[in-house]
Amino acid sequence: MNYRTLGRTGWKVSDISFGAWAIGSAWGQVDDKESLAALNKAIDCGVNFIDTADVYGMGRSERLVSQLKRERKEQIVVATKAGRRLEAQTVEGYGEKNLTAWVEDSLRNLGTDTIDLLQLHCPPTDAYYHPEIFGILDRMVEAGKLHHYGVSVERVEEALKAIEYPNVQTVQIIFNCLRHRPADVFFEQAKRKKVGILARVPLASGMLSGKMTAQSQFAADDHRNFNRHGESFDVGETFSGVDYDTALEVVEEIRKLVPAGVTIAQFALRWILMFDAVTCAIPGAKRPEQAAENCAASAIAPLTGEAMRKVRELYDSRIRESVHQRW
Ligand SMILES: NC(=O)c1ccc[n+]([C@@H]2O[C@H](COP(=O)([O-])OP(=O)(O)OC[C@H]3O[C@@H](n4cnc5c(N)ncnc54)[C@H](OP(=O)(O)O)[C@@H]3O)[C@@H](O)[C@H]2O)c1
Repeated sequence: MNYRTLGRTGWKVSDISFGAWAIGSAWGQVDDKESLAALNKAIDCGVNFIDTADVYGMGRSERLVSQLKRERKEQIVVATKAGRRLEAQTVEGYGEKNLTAWVEDSLRNLGTDTIDLLQLHCPPTDAYYHPEIFGILDRMVEAGKLHHYGVSVERVEEALKAIEYPNVQTVQIIFNCLRHRPADVFFEQAKRKKVGILARVPLASGMLSGKMTAQSQFAADDHRNFNRHGESFDVGETFSGVDYDTALEVVEEIRKLVPAGVTIAQFALRWILMFDAVTCAIPGAKRPEQAAENCAASAIAPLTGEAMRKVRELYDSRIRESVHQRW
């Protein structure tokens, strides 16, 4: 496992880390024993950073991470999120009372006195134009409730605005072989300001593992079924917002670029790590084998210039038109 410095926090985190959404909710049935096995495998493989949120199973994911921390002696940095318990996303919802209550709940679930990294969980774009929200977070840091805070964003413009606030330490954003726009302008700005970048949905909800087909079925409680067209939350979170059949075709082209001994998932994760502005990718994993396969991407050889050029060509010719200006 390789490690990169997370913005100005001083923490060195695994460049392949762990996304703990699927072990909480919205990805079909999961078994806590299997989820803990996946988490443990990730730690065995050198992962020291986990991304979760209060809403992932309403505390279920946070409590599993807490249990893992009790069982392991390694230092593990935990990032959680707040904001998605609002029934409707409004700027007013991000007031002191709500934020305090959410943070207190996460502290309880995580079994800690201080949250390592709290991220605003895709608040409305307008929230970034309200400095008082960031003032509340500053006071929480002063009060010792948070070590650091950051944001999880939908849009590149939100990311650019968020890093105008000097204490925003991290930006979490969708970045993968099917979503290139963050690399255009935002990465340079983030690097200049020493802001950490967490690349989420790195496998496009599993699509970039190459295992899906036109016949794949998803359970009724899996967002790849119930949010395929953005029925419940931003459609970009499901298969990165790329049309399913188009994504399947592009993955077949990517398959041809993958060197021997490397899986498509590992190629897709290594592609993300080719961008030095990225601190880490946070692939989700439900099973230990997935965690191990994903972690191994850290150590594989850099992709060739030719492979990088071809992925860009595929994006430009097949994907760009439908996603580039949307997020
Ligand atoms: N708004 C936000 O802030 C937000 C939104 C989305 C995600 N996130 C964060 O980002 C993390 C990652 O994104 P994500 O979980 O949505 O998507 P992802 O990492 O692109 O895909 C994860 C899913 O792909 C499948 N998978 C993982 N590794 C695999 C492998 N090696 N081979 C085959 N299949 C594999 C698993 O599902 P199956 O086995 O069921 O296929 C897994 O749950 C989340 O866990 C969460 O922490 C945050």
